[in-house]
Amino acid sequence: MLVNSINMLQKAKNEKYAIPQFNINNLEWTRYILEECEKNKVPVILGVSEGAAKYMGGFFVVTSLVDALIKELNITVDVCIHLDHGSSFEVCKKAIDSGFTSVMIDASKYPLEDNIKITKEVVDYAHQNNVSVEAEVGHIGGEEDGVSSDVYHATLEECIALAKTGIDSIAPALGSVHGLYKGLPNLNFERMALINQELNIPLVLHGGTGIPDSDIKKAIECGISKININTELQIAWHDAVLLFVKENDKVYDPRKVIGSGQENMKKAISSKINLFLNR
Ligand code: 13P
Repeated sequence: MLVNSINMLQKAKNEKYAIPQFNINNLEWTRYILEECEKNKVPVILGVSEGAAKYMGGFFVVTSLVDALIKELNITVDVCIHLDHGSSFEVCKKAIDSGFTSVMIDASKYPLEDNIKITKEVVDYAHQNNVSVEAEVGHIGGEEDGVSSDVYHATLEECIALAKTGIDSIAPALGSVHGLYKGLPNLNFERMALINQELNIPLVLHGGTGIPDSDIKKAIECGISKININTELQIAWHDAVLLFVKENDKVYDPRKVIGSGQENMKKAISSKINLFLNR
């Protein structure tokens, strides 16, 4: 069933595990993720960046695709369609009007008071439409969809101020980066635990790719209830496709070429689910 993320994240927070957000890029990725989450009986958040939505043909294409796959594949687990890093009120509104059940407003590049103002505007519109809202404070490093940023750790005070907008979850940047890490990640667990103790909304960890399993477990212990994975699935898919193309350079059927990444990608999805849910 299509749902917003409020109940699934609150349950994860109470029971100390993390809901996976897997980012989607096309029909095949969406199908693989839905099938694997159904097999593992786990609710899932499908992350859709503005770039991915544009690539697929627009927000309404995304919601129609997900809706149709849920029906055709008999998906029974809860599914949330979530705008990842919405850059403005207008973009979030468009996603909501197209049937997204959750949005992230990322106004973290603006001064705090502007971040709060834009986030509040999104919360008001989203909640009228039964849509959940995630917001970000601090700077998550690395690059995603051509947008890059330096790391800046969120403070407790900034998180408290942003949470007052009524958001349903918060992504405090605490050292994680989008894409691959240069060296080992250095997450601010102490600050994470403190923010979790002072705020009663679920915490989100962006940049899940490349974080060692032990640090993922520690982050969940420190209060993380949602973990975003994008690059790691891309790499799992790409590794398998590359091998297939090298060994089958006369095969041009796109279903076979694109589909050659299925098994490896599904393995990566299941392994993240087991890690995030302590299975
Ligand atoms: P990775 O690409 O590093 O897995 O990060 C995904 C993410 O945080 C999406 O918002």
